[in-house]
Amino acid sequence: MQTYAEISALREQIKRFKKDGHRIALVPTMGNLHEGHLNLVKKAHEQADIVIVSIFVNPMQFDNKDDLNRYPRTLEDDLNKLEHSGATLVFTPTPEVMYPQGMDKQTYIDVPGLSSILEGAARPGHFRGVTTIVGKLFNIVQPDVACFGEKDYQQLAIIRQMVTDLCMDITIINVPTAREIDGLAMSSRNNRLSIDDRQRAPAISRTMRWVCNAVRGGRRDFASLIEDAQDQLRAADIEPDEIHIRDAKTLEPITDASTQVVILMSAYLSNVRLIDNQVIDLNSETKTDAPSASA
Ligand code: PAF
Repeated sequence: MQTYAEISALREQIKRFKKDGHRIALVPTMGNLHEGHLNLVKKAHEQADIVIVSIFVNPMQFDNKDDLNRYPRTLEDDLNKLEHSGATLVFTPTPEVMYPQGMDKQTYIDVPGLSSILEGAARPGHFRGVTTIVGKLFNIVQPDVACFGEKDYQQLAIIRQMVTDLCMDITIINVPTAREIDGLAMSSRNNRLSIDDRQRAPAISRTMRWVCNAVRGGRRDFASLIEDAQDQLRAADIEPDEIHIRDAKTLEPITDASTQVVILMSAYLSNVRLIDNQVIDLNSETKTDAPSASA
């Protein structure tokens, strides 16, 4: 497995891969890798013979400097995990390589509608940082496909929108959320939970399933359903942050035309914010994949 930290050397290698007729998949990450990331790599390997994983803690998507400074950098451990994962090459640039002029005057990519609602309203500038760095990575690697986790539902919808709007010739692949045996969605943040909080954390996915079953069972009083879900989280000693039940394609409130809904949930355990989501097909009332090509 090769490691590159400079754009020019990586580009030379990618030219060689392309000249030899290889198909390239990209898995963008911020490191601190867990099983969920390795699932992305596995999926990428099914789609292409060359898998490039990027590890870059992107300062542009952090609205809070402390969060950026606290974000775990575990490069050596990450490289060990990737060694037998199917990754061909790892791109590990520094902020100076990705933002040589600094970030303030840097050209950015913004998907204004989807980026300004829900998570984007709570974290102004976050998704602009995500789309800008993903756009830069796409330009550097020029992959045939790129894999993203369904856990970050809104991020996935925004990246799909960017690819459509900017006519990027890249297939975006959704990878289902990897879960611990007790249902907790895998996340780098789970490592920050105390033993007590970790034991309580599965109540988030349990509450999510309860809401899904209620919607499948015909409940449409979404406002009081959300209140009931908040009560369930509080009963498990978890502080609800935001719970939304939205149209799965537009992420706007449900209308009569909505055929799929997504339940988006965030909650705090001590000061660790965890997120989870689930999509429900209102017609067949079965779980379906999160945002599809038309989202
Ligand atoms: O999901 C992430 O880890 C990041 O937002 C991404 C897509 C790697 C961009 O920095």
